[in-house]
Amino acid sequence: MSSDRISKRTDSLKPFHVMDILAQAKKLESQGRSICHMEVGEPDFATAGCIIKAGMDALKQFKTHYTPASGLPELREAVADYYHRKFSVEINPRRVIITPGASGAIQLAISCLLDAGENILLADPGYPCNKNIAQVLAVESQMIPVSSASAYQLDAALVAKHWNDKTRAVMVATPSNPTGTVLPEQQIKALCEQVEKNAGRLIVDEIYQGLVYDSDDYTALGVSDECFVINSFSKYFGMTGWRVGWMVVPECYVDVVDRIAQNIFLAPPTMSQYAALTALKESTQWILDERREEFKARRDFLLPALEQLGFKISARPQGAFYIYANCESFTDDSFLWVNQLLNEQGVALTPGIDFGDHLASKHCRFAYTQSLAILEQAVDKIDGFIQRYT
Ligand SMILES: Cc1ncc(COP(=O)(O)O)c(C=O)c1O
Repeated sequence: MSSDRISKRTDSLKPFHVMDILAQAKKLESQGRSICHMEVGEPDFATAGCIIKAGMDALKQFKTHYTPASGLPELREAVADYYHRKFSVEINPRRVIITPGASGAIQLAISCLLDAGENILLADPGYPCNKNIAQVLAVESQMIPVSSASAYQLDAALVAKHWNDKTRAVMVATPSNPTGTVLPEQQIKALCEQVEKNAGRLIVDEIYQGLVYDSDDYTALGVSDECFVINSFSKYFGMTGWRVGWMVVPECYVDVVDRIAQNIFLAPPTMSQYAALTALKESTQWILDERREEFKARRDFLLPALEQLGFKISARPQGAFYIYANCESFTDDSFLWVNQLLNEQGVALTPGIDFGDHLASKHCRFAYTQSLAILEQAVDKIDGFIQRYT
């Protein structure tokens, strides 16, 4: 007799509501409705032509086999060179592990740092998959409510307050998803010191590095060699579908992370790694930087436009491509409100509930991953919706 047993850990996994919104938006589109997609967190630009060509060339040259589990040696070196070129930081390429996206890196980091029942400190609101990946790995996450007072980021004082005898690690993201706020370098330094004091490890997700608009970009690797730094080719490099990212680990973790990667991934996608080599070239950077300027122009339009409509945005989004807005002037149930907005006006947003519990029903996330012209239309439509109901 077959069994329909599902492990408790996975059966209780929360859905990503934005995927339901996306499915609903696609259904409306198939019925002929025009939809402004501001729900999904991926660049609207296609991968740059030179990167696509590099991937295709790899295929034409039959580079279709596994690479080493930690990635192509030349890509690991290219990542180390990239840190040197951009941030004047020296990294031994051995410490660079190429992964199937930042998602793969998060799995490796949590796997090697925490045992079942131990806990990791995460910000609420924050990127929801961190908590869910921890759950799949039987690791507990302690969600710490953050507000605009700390720019929606964890700081050393919060970490000190919430650390307990089962805590082993802290994870932050700068710029953050969903708030787009940036952790100042000094704050990363203080976090590193606090976590070291507690004999734990800090994981810094720098996936939105390169998409910072109001200050100089930096890497936590310039602050400490003791933290785990996660990055990806998905966002700034515009390669979401290629599934390739990386993680820089402290020297003493190189071997264990390689062994985990051997077993759970075997290797990151080969053709994507060849494409990534071109993504890192200095000659490609101007294309990516031009796109960053476009994102900045969108942020500079959308932020005041939303404030004028009555949304409250209390911590300035300085990076990524998100605005996390308080919508309590219009609703006390952002999930319902977002659904109604989609059905009536064809504007798709992500409800706060996707990013945690803390004041979630008063917030929604706007992704400015659409052209300025579409964003302008979206603002008009939201205005019409608000006028009708308030
Ligand atoms: C903060 C953050 N980390 C990690 C990821 C995962 O990205 P990927 O696996 O595409 O590199 C995302 C995706 O949206 C994200 O926002």
